[in-house]
Amino acid sequence: MDTVGLIENIKKLKKEKNAIILGHYYQIEEIQQLSDYIGDSLALAEYSRKVDCDIIVFCGVHFMAETAKILNPNKKVLLPDVTAGCSLADSCPADAFSKFKAQYPDHMVISYINCSAEIKALSDLICTSGNAEKLVRSLPQDQKIIFAPDRNLGGYINRITGRNMILWDGACEVHDALTTDTILRYRTQYPTAKVIAHPECNDEVLKLADFAGSTNAMLKYVNNSDIKQFIVATETGIVYQMQKENPGKEFIIVSNNEKCNCNDCKHMKKNTLENLYSCLLNEQPEIIMDSALIEKAKAPIVRMLEMSKTLNLI
Ligand code: 13P
Ligand code: SF4
Repeated sequence: MDTVGLIENIKKLKKEKNAIILGHYYQIEEIQQLSDYIGDSLALAEYSRKVDCDIIVFCGVHFMAETAKILNPNKKVLLPDVTAGCSLADSCPADAFSKFKAQYPDHMVISYINCSAEIKALSDLICTSGNAEKLVRSLPQDQKIIFAPDRNLGGYINRITGRNMILWDGACEVHDALTTDTILRYRTQYPTAKVIAHPECNDEVLKLADFAGSTNAMLKYVNNSDIKQFIVATETGIVYQMQKENPGKEFIIVSNNEKCNCNDCKHMKKNTLENLYSCLLNEQPEIIMDSALIEKAKAPIVRMLEMSKTLNLI
């Protein structure tokens, strides 16, 4: 089937099956265009709670679809490619984290949403890059905290809030690979451009950025700025949305090596029109989870959503 045929059939199946497509900003353009809701991790977790449908097709990675299932245990949740994982989530295995956590019995655990359901079940509070700073600031100053799994996001939050959270040593292979040399090279090439970076980048890169923030926060920043040129230190997918909302501005994606697609998250890009179509047609692969795990993992996610609402973040 050609692209036009696939798009037509996806739309048709979506209607017939009362399905909703949730798409992360890192998806390919065609999937972003087909999504009923598009957003970053925080927005998508919140949308998934509100949608009125029988089937949620999550065009993102496994931990995101799992989060949607945890929040909607009675709905069918599908992920077009079940092998779409996440290097950051994989950097924090549950048994090793459980031993790590046992060393700090008086600490609460805040986990970045980019983790498995098992890690969520071991956590007191979940955060995303869109709310991490405000959630941490809202906790009592003397609250001892373990932050997992992203050492970069956790380190950044420590730096800007003056906290001393204990960090699990995990990272995202896409963002962590970006180097200061690369940023400086782009700065020399585009001297009037603003550098924007995702807090999954390492702290030396973040210190060189004019703005650091979640995917949604970066989008908001460029939408509200009078500047016409941006050097973008994150995954490539967001550029589509930035360009769409800002046709008169230029977005230059930072890459350590201009000859590769190094900033494409290989997991996010596993979802294609072909597997999205077959997933809707066959209602597979489906996210199936143990109900006890769902219950345990749900509490810290709900706590995050409630705190985010109180803090006017959603
Ligand atoms: P946000 O969607 O929270 O910006 O996170 C980016 C990311 O890497 C998702 O996996
Ligand atoms: Fe995971 Fe990084 Fe891909 Fe996000 S960009 S899904 S953190 S590997």
